[in-house]
Amino acid sequence: MARNRLRQLLATAFLVLATLLVLTPATASAQQTYRNPVAEQRADPHITKHTDGFYYFTATVPEFDKIILRRATTIQGLTTAPETTVWRRKASGVGSNQVWAPELHRIDGKWYIYVALGVSGQWKIRAFVLEGTGDNPLTATWVEKGLIKTNWDTFSLDASTFVHNGTRYLVWAQQEPSRTDENSSLMLAPLQNPWTIRGTAVVISRPTLSWERIGYKVNEGPAVIQRNGKLFLTYSASATDYNYCMGLLTASTSADLMNPASWVKTQTPIFVSNADTKQYGPGHNSFTVSEDGKSDVMVYHDRSYRDIKGDPLNDPNRRTMVQKLYWKADGTPDFGIPVPDGVTPVRLRSQAAPRMYLQYFSGASPTTATPALAEMQFRLVVPGLAGGNSTSIESTLKPGMFLRRANNQLRFEAKGSQGSFASEASFIQVAGLADANGVSFEVYGQKGSYLSLGTSSTSSLGVVQADAAQKGLATFFLD
Ligand code: AHR
Repeated sequence: MARNRLRQLLATAFLVLATLLVLTPATASAQQTYRNPVAEQRADPHITKHTDGFYYFTATVPEFDKIILRRATTIQGLTTAPETTVWRRKASGVGSNQVWAPELHRIDGKWYIYVALGVSGQWKIRAFVLEGTGDNPLTATWVEKGLIKTNWDTFSLDASTFVHNGTRYLVWAQQEPSRTDENSSLMLAPLQNPWTIRGTAVVISRPTLSWERIGYKVNEGPAVIQRNGKLFLTYSASATDYNYCMGLLTASTSADLMNPASWVKTQTPIFVSNADTKQYGPGHNSFTVSEDGKSDVMVYHDRSYRDIKGDPLNDPNRRTMVQKLYWKADGTPDFGIPVPDGVTPVRLRSQAAPRMYLQYFSGASPTTATPALAEMQFRLVVPGLAGGNSTSIESTLKPGMFLRRANNQLRFEAKGSQGSFASEASFIQVAGLADANGVSFEVYGQKGSYLSLGTSSTSSLGVVQADAAQKGLATFFLD
């Protein structure tokens, strides 16, 4: 009797486990994803993750008339977080016109906001600093520390700060008196205190390349991320329409940052408009980290349409977008492409061959052993085209192209009107067969058959049964 009871209990336990495996989409390995846009009509977005567990968000508002803050314990939480105005445009003098591109920084136990302020009736925009006391910047007492005095009294904006080898620096955009046919170069100087530069600033970049000079000759919106023994300084270039794009300066962490020669400019833009994903004028970025601290996240603005009537600065629809920042094997950042609106994509890395990723291909099979990032990014559409608990796999590079199994062939195809398309382009996502920290994709309507990725460099996709030898080929880690 006891033996039967034990058998019954074990059978029940197995059934429960199997059910859980099928019904519980693998969350352990789930790469953090976000839904874009994070905030409508919020340009030049700046998100900083503080030690208090909050993400703090600020940005330019379309009216250019105030500084707003939001905070939430997740990046996505910022979408619905209440907004607090911590400073408003003045009636006259400095700060009575444009209020542009605020950034919030915690420095030596106080909050600081760097912002560009204009003077009504004049084209006179300068970098300005406010100091906040109190743990929560949304309720802090803000004091105006005034304009940042620099080499020249000229158009200056987009100040940002970072610490390198124990020295705090300020980097900003400013017009050089000798180059009045250009809007702005990038300037760098150490800080004596958060609102005072020390010594003479140096020019580390000028809008000299063709893609920096479309509409306006601009280098602005600098942001620094330090990884792998280098400083990567991104900036934005050209007019703020669909030509707006991002460039990159790179310096070694051991270099003298105040020597302009230390900063090597990538000769082509690293982040540009993309008609396929309907993202235009991406730029003025900042960097933060994911909730689990494991991924870098790039924050930027863009528009969902290409053409603008009138001055782009008067178009209110630059919105806040976020996406994971990837890193290449050589330690440099891989910005990829601005991803489509909606849930951000992931890569599907083979458990059997860790250097192998699912990759987009047109035609019968993958053709490249070195796919670009965007070729390896996919949105896991839930529910999938078959509805219910299905998942479909949609290309990021070519939105609207779904992985479909038809006539024993796996290909990427546009969502068709064929009645069978929905089920043939759907899977059931389950915990990884070879590792529960991964995921596997059972072919919709074909129990026991799973999507698999071969291990050769341009291996084709296939379907395998869940026997032991094949489980690794049918298990993917999302990153
Ligand atoms: O959004 C206002 C200004 O537009 C920002 O300061 C600048 O980066 C962009 O050109």
